[in-house]
Amino acid sequence: MINDNNQFNIEEKVKELFIKNRRTSGNYQYTLPSPGSYPYQWFWDSCFHAIILSHFDMKSAKEELRSLISKQFKNGLLPHIIYWEKHEVMNVDWDAEGTSSLAQPPLIAYAVKNIYKKENDISFVKEMFAPMDRYYRHLLTRDPRKSHLVGLINPDESGEDNSPRFDIPLGLEPTQRFSENNLKRFNLFEKSRKCGFDNVDCTRNLFWVKDVAFSAYLIENFVCMSELACEIKERESEAFYIGQREMMTKAMRERMYEDGIFWTIHGSNYEKIKVKTWAIFAPLIGGLYTEDEAKNLIKNHLRNEKEFWTPFIIPTTAKSETSYFPGERSGPVWLRPNWRGPIWIAPNWFVYRGLKKYGFHEEANIIREKSLELVEKSGFREYYHPETGQGLGAFDFTWGGLVLDME
Ligand code: GLC
Repeated sequence: MINDNNQFNIEEKVKELFIKNRRTSGNYQYTLPSPGSYPYQWFWDSCFHAIILSHFDMKSAKEELRSLISKQFKNGLLPHIIYWEKHEVMNVDWDAEGTSSLAQPPLIAYAVKNIYKKENDISFVKEMFAPMDRYYRHLLTRDPRKSHLVGLINPDESGEDNSPRFDIPLGLEPTQRFSENNLKRFNLFEKSRKCGFDNVDCTRNLFWVKDVAFSAYLIENFVCMSELACEIKERESEAFYIGQREMMTKAMRERMYEDGIFWTIHGSNYEKIKVKTWAIFAPLIGGLYTEDEAKNLIKNHLRNEKEFWTPFIIPTTAKSETSYFPGERSGPVWLRPNWRGPIWIAPNWFVYRGLKKYGFHEEANIIREKSLELVEKSGFREYYHPETGQGLGAFDFTWGGLVLDME
């Protein structure tokens, strides 16, 4: 259990960090994920920030989301990065509007619903609803064959840039998988740009992945959209999102499930990519596993020391995978381990919530305690070594604040 003392300390540290990373541009306010490494506004990061801020600063939580929707594309896309100011780092996908042209995990409805649950401010829901509605309906256009699953056009859209579950769709041979993943992703930007990013018929010939975690987030966010629509009496939208949720749930079961696991799939044959990453647990948040399936998943995979039950949990890639690489490696940026083993606090938060939903309180509490231990021991880092707990990657990284939401 987190005792009151610890809870108080972590909250103070999170508050300090969020003030340090706060930026403004004109009337807009947002939070940098890490001033040294990520000096822009990122989409899913801002959704996390709003959820974290809603624990101690509701006004800033709302501002974070207002700035996020301020650069919505005409077609409805909410871009994955807003480059509010020019910096030397990471400007690979910079277009004329000062944003990227990709998507990122679609968590905004969950963030808005969380804020609403705490404060009952219906005017905020009304303000956010139309842009969110256009956004989710836009994502659904990425489904030319009406499979009821949304296609990703770049690994970055999953939020897990170099996860090994994208090695096969990137066309990497096993020996290339570690070093060339990132380079291939960057080449894809250029090719997608030539296609026009929202030209589904063109981009899907380059990279076309129906990701298990992204789909699970969508399902949870469709539920939030239908509930928010109900609150503001948008009856058509309420029914629409209930329907989308049902169809996507069915499609995931039909196309992604095998051997007790929901897998990411790719290509026109919906081929399963049987690489065990933390994403096999993501469907817990959407309630996709049956009770029995969830029990087996936890016993066989989560609590399995050869896969995910390492001294610190949860490694983003299972120990049993050949691509598992838990620690820092010197050399160029694309040799970093990132999503190929290290623990990130956001996946911990998702799995924590999924486990709670199913009543697996023991495992959920262990994840919460270990997450808190990592932040206390190693600070607010981008990711952590699953065997030693060592902090790795960017400094002053905000996602550690999600431990406040594990309650
Ligand atoms: C890294 C992460 C991505 C995140 C970004 C900003 O690129 O992989 O998920 O949004 O950093 O924090």
